Amino acid sequence: MTDLVAVADEGAIRTLRMNRPDKKNALTASMYGAMADAIESANGSDAVRCVVIAGGPGAFSAGNDLQEFLQAASTGEGLGTNVVRFLHALARNERPLVAAVQGVAVGVGTTMLLHCDHVIAGSDARFSTPFISLGLVPEAGSSLLAPRLMGHQRAFSLLAMGRPLDAAAAHACGLVSTIVAPGEVETEALKAAREIAALPAEALAAARRLMRGPPGQIIERIDEEVQLFKQRLQSAEAREAFAAFLARKR
Ligand code: COA
Repeated sequence: MTDLVAVADEGAIRTLRMNRPDKKNALTASMYGAMADAIESANGSDAVRCVVIAGGPGAFSAGNDLQEFLQAASTGEGLGTNVVRFLHALARNERPLVAAVQGVAVGVGTTMLLHCDHVIAGSDARFSTPFISLGLVPEAGSSLLAPRLMGHQRAFSLLAMGRPLDAAAAHACGLVSTIVAPGEVETEALKAAREIAALPAEALAAARRLMRGPPGQIIERIDEEVQLFKQRLQSAEAREAFAAFLARKR
């Protein structure tokens, strides 16, 4: 259990809020577990017709907690069970997902958006995936989904070169549906969620399944990435990068 993720149902809409503002919503194993539980149980509930994933002002999520990465590197572990369960839950999920992004979206903070159906971003949003400079490889199925969404070159720039996208660039490459003022992100996301929740649920589910295709290929890619990620976590390149971030002087 963690109070760093708040889950609230209002009518047919479940909101799942990452709530660790002092660490820019960097995700810990228990936070991944809570998010996986919320998505899995939404899938099992006819009452939930749309799920909103939100962060807070200035930070959607700074990605995986780097302290936990460093720990995993020293114990020889890979991405933990809760991380993998969260990634599988995203891939298998059948409820429409809306994301409300303000500020930074780093690592999985960006790659989880590739599983979302509608992304509202504040004009202050900044998307980045510094996997390679951390000595890692892309995760969450992003090595498959990002090139599919934006083409190889733009995906390479984001995932391999680690070049960030501002809100306008993310919109141009299809990662973001709508850009609004930062203070309007939550309202717009809820508005979209209500619109989606009001649609005929069975027809919508069938259409979504057709558009996304079977989840098997995505799960397979997630698992392949997880294997490589485990190897990369042990690498000197990765350990040095985590330690440098955590020891940095500001
Ligand atoms: N893991 C652990 N702690 C993190 C974190 C992460 N991924 N991201 C931020 N934090 C912590 C910082 O260490 C800092 O903690 P402190 O106040 O105890 O020193 C706090 O969150 C605020 O971060 P700070 O760097 O001061 O905020 P910023 O606005 O200057 O920068 C980021 C925000 C997200 C750009 C920057 O924190 C960052 O680059 N984080 C690392 C992102 C990352 O590499 N994630 C993994 C991707 S695979």
